[in-house]
Amino acid sequence: PSKDKISPFERDAMLAAARAAMDRAYAPYSHFHVGAAVLDEHGAIHAGCNVENAAYPQGVCAEAGALSAMVLAGATRVRAVLVMGHGDALVTPCGGCRQKIREFARGDAKIHCCTEDGELIRSFTLDELLPYSFGRENL
Ligand code: THU
Repeated sequence: PSKDKISPFERDAMLAAARAAMDRAYAPYSHFHVGAAVLDEHGAIHAGCNVENAAYPQGVCAEAGALSAMVLAGATRVRAVLVMGHGDALVTPCGGCRQKIREFARGDAKIHCCTEDGELIRSFTLDELLPYSFGRENL
């Protein structure tokens, strides 16, 4: 398989990591639990959950936590992202997180969005979710 195509094995591992992270979410205000998993250039998976705050705007999304964990682990490339949220509706990354992912991913990186049970999965490229984006090459 090519370097940027993720295997079913990697996808299942990302699903499991996102689900475990979602179960750890700290979301006492919205009660909306989200888990995210990113696959890095070494094949390692890093997870994050949303962490809310009594000062509401200080809350952090699951994707941001997963990206921080990736950088801390020494990786700088995102090959794929998987986001899982409570409920039956797909959870796609918020606008701010699309831009955060953009820092580390190519436009053709896959972003997998799924329901709580992981049954419904829709996959997008970063370019689809964040067209005509701004990045470091613009500076
Ligand atoms: N949230 C995420 O963590 N990621 C998303 O992609 C969408 C929204 C969180 C933020 C907040 O804690 C809760 O979900 C409700 O918006």
